[in-house]
Amino acid sequence: MISDNIVIIAKKEIYSVKNIKDLNILKIKYLGKKGYITKQFLLIKTLNKEEKINKSIIINKQKKQIQKIIIKRKKEIELDKYDEKILNQKIDISLPGKYIEIGSEHPIKSIIYEIEEFFTQIGFKIVIGPEIEDVYHNFDALNISKNHPIRTEKDTFWLNKNTLLRTQTSNIQIRIMKKSKPPIRILTSGKVYRNDYDSNHTPMFHQIEGLFIDKKVTFSDLKGILILFLNYFFGKKCKIRFRPSYFPFTEPSLEVDILNNNQQWIEILGAGMVHPNVLKNVQINTSRYYGFAFGLGVERLAMLRYNINDIRLFYENDIRFLKQFKFNNFI
Ligand code: DAH
Repeated sequence: MISDNIVIIAKKEIYSVKNIKDLNILKIKYLGKKGYITKQFLLIKTLNKEEKINKSIIINKQKKQIQKIIIKRKKEIELDKYDEKILNQKIDISLPGKYIEIGSEHPIKSIIYEIEEFFTQIGFKIVIGPEIEDVYHNFDALNISKNHPIRTEKDTFWLNKNTLLRTQTSNIQIRIMKKSKPPIRILTSGKVYRNDYDSNHTPMFHQIEGLFIDKKVTFSDLKGILILFLNYFFGKKCKIRFRPSYFPFTEPSLEVDILNNNQQWIEILGAGMVHPNVLKNVQINTSRYYGFAFGLGVERLAMLRYNINDIRLFYENDIRFLKQFKFNNFI
């Protein structure tokens, strides 16, 4: 009456189903209230005690085996379903993920911030001004003569007869002096434009301009501040050379050179005492006030500091170049 190979038959049947619903039907068939196992227990009721015990041990064993098989098959079906789902999603989980690079501050911007930090600590206020400028602020008020070569199309990008892309940040000197009274101590930075393109020039580059107007401002103050600044920026050991020079808006004027790794002197800034004509143009009393001004080429400073021999590298957006300045990150 008790089939010995029932477990084998059940196993075969259980392994032939492919979904949980059919598996549950088999579970009821074998283990349910009216199922095969329950029926076996009912059938042995009439047997004598000893036989009953022996048979019930067998039936219980079969029950456990069938339970085990059902649980195992259930897990397998669930796993198959999961695999099927993954396959249907058509996601190749073996593909490498997309790596998103974290950007970093451009070296030119970092240098501007660094320089601003120095000058704000000694009382300079940061200001900004327009890149599209008129002839008055870019040339006339700065005492640049009408026939100066910088005014020609060979050097300047003209938008119309009176408007141009500023060739220098010195335009801000005029804008500030016109709207504020001395003492004035400002620093400005930004893009300037000139019609030039080679390994040392790009049509757009950056300048930083400082202006200091007060009652007792001397040429030695200017020299002192420039030396302090250059020691801050290049370190105390850097070799600095002051050279007499000429700018229409300063008198006397000077230029500063720094000795690079190849023992060449590289010009990095122009400066001088603000020319009385410039002060007069902005109605500052020249018998009471003096001042100095300076203008730095930011790319030049960056090239010197990082030993870069072509200015164009800053603007080619080559990630291999820019990556080298990742240490400037704020993140
Ligand atoms: N504007 C000058 C240039 O672009 C640099 C300069 C020289 C700025 C002397 C100054 C200065 O303020 O005093 O070459």
